[in-house]
Amino acid sequence: MTGLAAYGHLPFPIRPVPGRAQQLFGLRFANPVGLAAGLDKDALAVTGLARLGFGFVEVGTVTPQPQPGNPTPRLFRLVKDGALINRMGFNNQGLAAMVPRLQRIREQDKLVDTRLGVNIGKNKVTELSAAKDDYLQCFRAVAPFADYITVNLSSPNTPGLRSLQSPEALRELLDPLKELQQSNAQMNVPILVKIAPDLTGPDIGLVAQTLVALEIDGVIATNTTISRPDLHSVHRDEVGGLSGEPLTQLSRQVVAQLHEELAGRMPIVGVGGVSGVDDGAALVAAGASLVQVYTGFIYQGPGLVRALARKL
Ligand SMILES: Cc1cc2nc3c(=O)[nH]c(=O)nc-3n(C[C@H](O)[C@H](O)[C@H](O)COP(=O)(O)O)c2cc1C
Repeated sequence: MTGLAAYGHLPFPIRPVPGRAQQLFGLRFANPVGLAAGLDKDALAVTGLARLGFGFVEVGTVTPQPQPGNPTPRLFRLVKDGALINRMGFNNQGLAAMVPRLQRIREQDKLVDTRLGVNIGKNKVTELSAAKDDYLQCFRAVAPFADYITVNLSSPNTPGLRSLQSPEALRELLDPLKELQQSNAQMNVPILVKIAPDLTGPDIGLVAQTLVALEIDGVIATNTTISRPDLHSVHRDEVGGLSGEPLTQLSRQVVAQLHEELAGRMPIVGVGGVSGVDDGAALVAAGASLVQVYTGFIYQGPGLVRALARKL
């Protein structure tokens, strides 16, 4: 991350790899490949990451207050499985640290063609019943600088968070966010909701219908899974969210079902287990308009970004 931050400060221009441009939620994406949330939780290396050629970079999850996350070790490489297990627990420096960094990026007009998403969450100590206040606080603080905002309801590492995906909880949380979004021009930033891969078929249908009814702008599918498909690495029994190759099929299925339920009423961002051009193409075929990577990028580096951006 230190290297990427330094790379961001070099004087040559920051440009996405030319690719199949997309017009979504009123934004132009120069190519459909993005960095998924959780790598740059504090917006420390946005320009360095953008310089690798992504069409969009998503920072966060940020919570209102700084918090340390879970005790280490909390991140495990499952090399044989092309996977990671993490139970980071939203370690981040909080809004007060992130916002000035975002502001600087905008003031200095650092990102010309790369879209910037900010992923927001709630502090661990915040009661679930007060979750909406955390999301509202984050939204208000980052909206002036974000191209879109992701409401993260799907991390397995914050107790109870995923229960916010029920239709009642979605309404209670997203209605006030939508109201804030509509309140003035500065707050008028597209809202995307990020969901878990562990929802059952009927639940996915309910989520899709509720998001449409609430006029949410887009959906990101999926976060990491708490399921444990057949794994072979030593760390396979660690507690946390599993990402990478064992997630490929599951995410693709969720995207396909969302695509059917939504019938074009809302764009889908596909994420989970993309480790090559074929995986990315399969997510697009399943209905994703944009694709994000995390674990594949950890194992393969920037070559994966360039290959995906050129071919998808
Ligand atoms: C170490 C790690 C930390 C993550 N942190 C976040 C996070 O803070 N917020 C979030 O929405 N997703 C987070 N994710 C999930 C990723 O954004 C992505 O949805 C998931 O890993 C599936 O994609 P992949 O298989 O390409 O990694 C994290 C994933 C990993 C591996």
